[in-house]
Amino acid sequence: MSVSSNEIASIVQQTLQQYRPYRGFTFRSPAITVTGGHCVNQLGDILLELGATHVLLVADKMVYQLGLTTGSENAIRLAGLKLTLFTGVEGEPDSRLIARGQAVLSTSKADFVLGIGGGSALDAAKAIAVIGDYQGPLTAFKVGGIASRQVGLGAIPTTAGTGSEVTDITVIKDAELDIKVPVKGPALVPDLALLDPALMLGVPAGITAATGVDTLTHAVEAYVSRQTNPLSKAYAYHAIEALIKALPVAVGYGQDMDKRYDMAVAAYKAGLAFSNAGLGLTHAIAHQIGARYHLPHGVANAILLPYVMAFNALSCEADYAEIANALGVSREAMTQRDRCRAAILTVRQLVVDLGLPTSLADVGITEQDLALLAEQAMQDICLQGNPRQVTPVQIVELLKQVIAGQLPEGYC
Ligand SMILES: [Fe+2]
Repeated sequence: MSVSSNEIASIVQQTLQQYRPYRGFTFRSPAITVTGGHCVNQLGDILLELGATHVLLVADKMVYQLGLTTGSENAIRLAGLKLTLFTGVEGEPDSRLIARGQAVLSTSKADFVLGIGGGSALDAAKAIAVIGDYQGPLTAFKVGGIASRQVGLGAIPTTAGTGSEVTDITVIKDAELDIKVPVKGPALVPDLALLDPALMLGVPAGITAATGVDTLTHAVEAYVSRQTNPLSKAYAYHAIEALIKALPVAVGYGQDMDKRYDMAVAAYKAGLAFSNAGLGLTHAIAHQIGARYHLPHGVANAILLPYVMAFNALSCEADYAEIANALGVSREAMTQRDRCRAAILTVRQLVVDLGLPTSLADVGITEQDLALLAEQAMQDICLQGNPRQVTPVQIVELLKQVIAGQLPEGYC
């Protein structure tokens, strides 16, 4: 029986896809990162450097109405570039919004998509840039990922949290199937990430707190992920080190440009860390709670993180001890277990200090749907990175602790 060259090529490709070199890793990040107060003024030159001639600006409706896109619009026009606006992003982006944005991109013939806003606007811009005129269900993208795009892509966050400005993922709701679909692939990593803390000065304290703890969760979960790598660990460690100093001040005094800057860079670092290393059980459960109870993502993470850390400590006590160093609560006389415990309790205390809820009971969640939540969390892609293997029964038991607001024995 003869085998065609196409069949041989297919077998080779499948084998290569399945083979992960031992301890090997691939690390992706934006081609250009620009940071600094009012650095949005540099936007025109950077876009010219990236070869853009016509920019489609995708923004949150509120961000646009607050005038936070004005600096970018001026910089783009001053550089002699054409500009088309798509400023209708409200709430979580769905497939209908993406189709409308894609139609504007196609009609305008813009060659660069620039997202400005919170995670929703950046996710929308990324999807508009990569999905093209595809009309079918978004679930088609779930497995293969997206490797290429035809236009340039940039992201300017106005909150410090999701890290969407650097990650290779966008989450879009499929309006027909009524489910959130994570779309993933190298083409979703923006060419440009621009971090201007001046755009973040007006973010309310509650949102600053919740998005900041989302950043902390990205960093902690990336640091201990089964799929982590040395670069992700370095970025995650330094994100934690900066965040523990900057976040309480940014929540308490939102006009502090230095701390807003530190938080913007911490969110960027944590985004790079998890985009290349994966996440864990906190995000796997938070996604289900967010979808079912419409709880903001950062708030769900804030409630869950200390409990998941306590659960995972069996598998990653040494890593949590290192995180205690980053948090500034490690002392020479402490054992590894002491340091691990100090890290968990410091995270818990931070959540309390920021005024965020510390139990699921605080946000009105009862034991009614725990089995279903556990089953759904087991299917979440983020679970693959969790350092400890987990069963649905263990997730239910953990969630009972989170409802009661009671950390397990040894962490109280
Ligand atoms: Fe997150």
